[in-house]
This record gives sequence, structure tokens and C-alpha cells, in this order.
Amino acid sequence: MVTTQTGALFLHPDRNLAMELVRATEAAAIRSAPFIGRGDKLAADGAAVDAMRKFLGTVNFSGLVVIGEGEKDNAPMLFNGEVVGNGQGPACDIAVDPIDGTSLTAAGRSHAISMIAVADRGSMLDASSVFYMDKLVAGHEGIGVLDIRQPIGENIRALAKAKGKPVDEMRVAVLDRPRHEGLIAEIREAGAGTRIILDGDVAAGINAARHDSRIDLAVGTGGSPEGVATACAVKALGGFIQGRLAPGSDAERERGAAAGLLFDHVYEADDLVRSDNTFFVATGVTDGELVRGVRRERGVITTESIVLRSRSGTIRRVIAEHQEEKWLS
Ligand code: FBP
Repeated sequence: MVTTQTGALFLHPDRNLAMELVRATEAAAIRSAPFIGRGDKLAADGAAVDAMRKFLGTVNFSGLVVIGEGEKDNAPMLFNGEVVGNGQGPACDIAVDPIDGTSLTAAGRSHAISMIAVADRGSMLDASSVFYMDKLVAGHEGIGVLDIRQPIGENIRALAKAKGKPVDEMRVAVLDRPRHEGLIAEIREAGAGTRIILDGDVAAGINAARHDSRIDLAVGTGGSPEGVATACAVKALGGFIQGRLAPGSDAERERGAAAGLLFDHVYEADDLVRSDNTFFVATGVTDGELVRGVRRERGVITTESIVLRSRSGTIRRVIAEHQEEKWLS
């Protein structure tokens, strides 16, 4: 139970919430599917945003959007500060990314997902004033072993030892960006292999934290909102995450400081999201290592989603078949 400043009482989000939320990521993925490979990322994102907003409106909760999406590229958005849900039930913070991987979707490339993360109200870091964050994500073996302040080679060796794996079998996911040239060279010099991803560092982070993935570590600079959303999933998986804000200009640093954000500071999982009651759901838009993308065959649309809940530590995979005719309008 949470008491707000006005004295109102709210329930904590419970186990049913994630199963309800998955309908919203499924809807976003289904609605964006016709835009896969059509070269129009704003149209894909717009369809996903509209579908997600509509389905969120039916869910029993009051979700304050702490992390919306869209500031980049004037994309359609679910606004920061917008309240979603039907207003009944628990008060929560919510992070949404109707499509993480809009460019992947537009190009018809793999690894685009639709995602939502939820935690108790007031517990998510609002890092929206600083666009980029340096991140280091791994499974539970990284806890007490990894440190984002250390050179990447040392972190790889330490994690390899903790996992009982030779360094040359370690795979490190990094976004394909010019800013990562030096980092990629250091990973390879350390003897590990890279998994270069074009976009979508939330899925990469989750894969690094999962026990049965071929990625051991996700590292590099990506979106701060994506970092907080990843933290919700990583907490549910019992994994490791650290983040450090990476302002791109003095003006951004000033805006961040005014919002109470700290620089040259390592944000641990519990700083990125304070609550231990986190939920994370993602549905595949295009095929990826985490979840399969939307399929349409003989009048049936099939979606695959992953549903994580920190309290129970459960990882559910939800395969849903939807009648295409119900989605025609
Ligand atoms: P969107 O699809 O929401 O635009 O984000 C894709 C993404 O690759 C994120 O996963 C990542 O955190 C961010 O963009 C990296 O930003 P940039 O493309 O500016 O390097």
C-alpha cells in the first residue's frame, strides 16, 4: 500500500498487471507490423503509439508516464507526465517504448520490440533531461564483480572468471555507432567477440542478463530512458546493471543538474528504479534473439512476448494467436 501526498491510498501493482499490460505491447506490435520494411519509421511508431495508448486505457491501474518516447526526431509520443490506465487500481510509474527499434522496423531488420516497464509510483529515475547514458549490463554473475569505471577489458576478464568461461567465448553487445569505435577495439583486444547491434539496446541488455542467451555483456552509450526501462527488466531477472549519464553538451548538463541528476556518478540498479516491485513486458515486432516478431498466416496473427515480474522472478513467454479479422478496422 502507498500513501500519496494527498493521503490517498493505492495498492501496489500485483501479479495480474503484467499479464494485462502484455495486451498493450501485443497491440502495438500488431499495428506496427504493416509498416515493417516500408521505410517510414514515423508511421510505424505512430501506429504503435496509438495502439498502446488505447489498450493502456483499459488496464486497471494509474500509470504516470515517467519515461515516454519520441522526443528524438519529433516522433509520435506517449508524453512524459501523461497518466495512462483506467485510474482504478495501483498507482505506478510506467516507462513505454511502443517500438524500440523504429529504424529497424522501417528497414525490415530484426530485433525491434514493443515494451512497457512498470514499478511502484515514484520509484523510477526520471532521466529524461539527459538523452544518453553509458550502460553496463550482465547476468547475476556480474554483481560485485563488474564496475563501469573499470576498463572494459578488466570487466570482461572478471565476468569470464565469474561465469567460468574462457574470455574468447565471451560475447559483448555494442551499438554500431562511431562513438563506440574505441570501445569495440578494446573488447576485441581483450580477446572477446562483439555482437554489433544496429539499434535496440533494451533487448540487448535483457539478453545479456538472461541465463540462456549467447550475449554475456551489453555495454556502451544508448538512450537514458532505455537504461531505466532495462533496469526494470534486469531487476526482474536478478541481473546486473550500472549506468552513468553522458550529457552531450553543457546546456544538457545544466538541464540535468537542475532536474537533480548526478554526473560522474554511477547509478546502480536500485538508483535507476528504487522499487523491488518491477514488471517488464515486451512483444516482438520483428524477429529477434529475445522474442519472435509478428507473424500473419491464413487469417491468424501470432505474437510472442516476454513477461517479467521481479517479486516472483518469473519469466513467462506468451504466444498469442489473434484473429486477423478482429484487427481489420
Ligand atoms: P528508437 O527506436 O526508440 O529510436 O531507439 C533505438 C535505439 O537504438 C535505442 O535502443 C538506443 O538506446 C538508442 O536508440 C540509441 O540512440 P542513438 O540512435 O541516437 O545512438
